[in-house]
Amino acid sequence: MNDTISTETRFLHAVEFGLGAWQWGDRLIWQYGQTHSDEDCRAAFDVSLEAGVRFVDTAEVYGSGRSERLLGQFLQETDQPVLVATKFFPFPWRWTKKSLLRALKRSLERIGVETVDLYQVHQALPPISIETWMEAMAEAVEEGLTRTVGVSNYNQTQMLQAYSTLSRKNIPLAANQVTYSLLNRNIEYDGLLARCKELGVRVIAYSPIEKGLLTGKYTPENPPPGVRGRRYGDLLPKIGPLLKLMTGIGQEHGGKSKTQVALNWCICKGTLPIPGAKNADQAEENAGALGWKLTEEEVVKLDDASNAILK
Ligand SMILES: NC(=O)c1ccc[n+]([C@@H]2O[C@H](COP(=O)([O-])OP(=O)(O)OC[C@H]3O[C@@H](n4cnc5c(N)ncnc54)[C@H](OP(=O)(O)O)[C@@H]3O)[C@@H](O)[C@H]2O)c1
Repeated sequence: MNDTISTETRFLHAVEFGLGAWQWGDRLIWQYGQTHSDEDCRAAFDVSLEAGVRFVDTAEVYGSGRSERLLGQFLQETDQPVLVATKFFPFPWRWTKKSLLRALKRSLERIGVETVDLYQVHQALPPISIETWMEAMAEAVEEGLTRTVGVSNYNQTQMLQAYSTLSRKNIPLAANQVTYSLLNRNIEYDGLLARCKELGVRVIAYSPIEKGLLTGKYTPENPPPGVRGRRYGDLLPKIGPLLKLMTGIGQEHGGKSKTQVALNWCICKGTLPIPGAKNADQAEENAGALGWKLTEEEVVKLDDASNAILK
């Protein structure tokens, strides 16, 4: 393991895969209540645990707290140890370090735990400085409210600011959670992924199946519903050759699905993918990305096919 990784954050580098919980309670993007119920979310959680998944990512804003509350219920009903990551949203009306500590305490109440394993600032939004939030994070660590500190959607400059503020307090920056998939490789193109590896910061890959596009179930004729459909209108007609390659590669591995290939690719790139799952079937398929590995040659072929779409 990379020797820039500090002891406190080592556990996160040992986690290969996680479960995203934005879907649990979100109606606007994810049609919670229409396409999936609380029972479906519970089944997604249970199946993930059965498959060995031990890391769940949520946020105070997901379903306005519902995602954290559901996770809390599910955690109470399992004996399995689960690593919990949640996030602070720097709303413009949050002005002080205390507001982060207050928000974290409310998240802990909803989840029903005394501490989380990773607390992340959701975005680098003005007006409050990155230094201020990182100083508040340091207090959260000192008070034992979170084991480690992460950021999300931070570019290199912002991440380095966070990293140095925390360093002055002898606290490592554990993770940067960013969008990353075969259909969004900005962190490779702009050097963020490489910089994270250099610094020992774990890259948590969100939207690793590009919000469902890499499953192959959506086509230009059958786009995803609502906001997603509008967002991906230009991309959908271009992804056929990549999906075809993914099908072929999956067959070489005893019939792995496109979704599993997409997630395994994220793992091969040294990131921790956290696909969202609405139900047991999705969670089960996603967890099938574990326990096998694409070859280096296959990764290169996938890189080339995705570059042909993105560049
Ligand atoms: N930090 C941030 O700013 C940020 C932003 C976004 C997400 N996240 C985190 O990352 C997690 C994952 O990202 P994401 O939810 O945006 O996108 P994603 O994981 O790429 O896509 C999830 C969606 O794809 C579909 N899906 C998942 N597994 C499937 C399967 N096996 N077969 C068929 N369809 C499947 C489901 O939607 P349908 O069934 O409706 O197609 C599901 O809701 C979130 O839950 C959240 O924890 C963080």
